Amino acid sequence: MKTAVVYFSLGGATRSFARAEANARGADLFEAVPEKKYNPFSALVRGCHAAMRQKSVPLSEAPDLTGYGHIVLMAPVWGGFPAPPFNSIAGLLPRGAEVEALLVSASGSSEKSRAKVRALLEARGCRVVAQRDIRSHR
Ligand SMILES: Cc1cc2nc3c(=O)[nH]c(=O)nc-3n(C[C@H](O)[C@H](O)[C@H](O)COP(=O)(O)O)c2cc1C
Repeated sequence: MKTAVVYFSLGGATRSFARAEANARGADLFEAVPEKKYNPFSALVRGCHAAMRQKSVPLSEAPDLTGYGHIVLMAPVWGGFPAPPFNSIAGLLPRGAEVEALLVSASGSSEKSRAKVRALLEARGCRVVAQRDIRSHR
């Protein structure tokens, strides 16, 4: 089964974890880039708000995930929820795919949004096989 690791990163932490994850699994790596780029200020003001409502944003680089049976989605946690490009990627998932959600945060916890993230992915017709947290700050 072909595996893809798809990620969004603002500060670079998720990017390095995603590269390591793709290397370890021999998976293809894709970056999701929002049309309207975030900076730390807009992430806080408009990004958190949208993240907490599980909104997606248009992507300027959207991966074609056709043919991937196993997809690892990675994004930073903003306001307890995955950053909005995570939701945009969720909208591109092929039905029936196995999905893992790996969320990177300063605290190492996305407990608050775990059930809602699972529901979003299941609503896409995917099977959620793992939800993991990665702590970026030591
Ligand atoms: C707007 C914003 C909101 C954040 N909210 C949270 C949060 O709710 N919980 C948490 O543990 N970390 C939070 N963080 C920290 C990031 O999740 C953490 O620094 C992550 O590693 C950033 O990944 P990146 O470098 O790939 O962008 C937030 C960071 C930003 C910029």
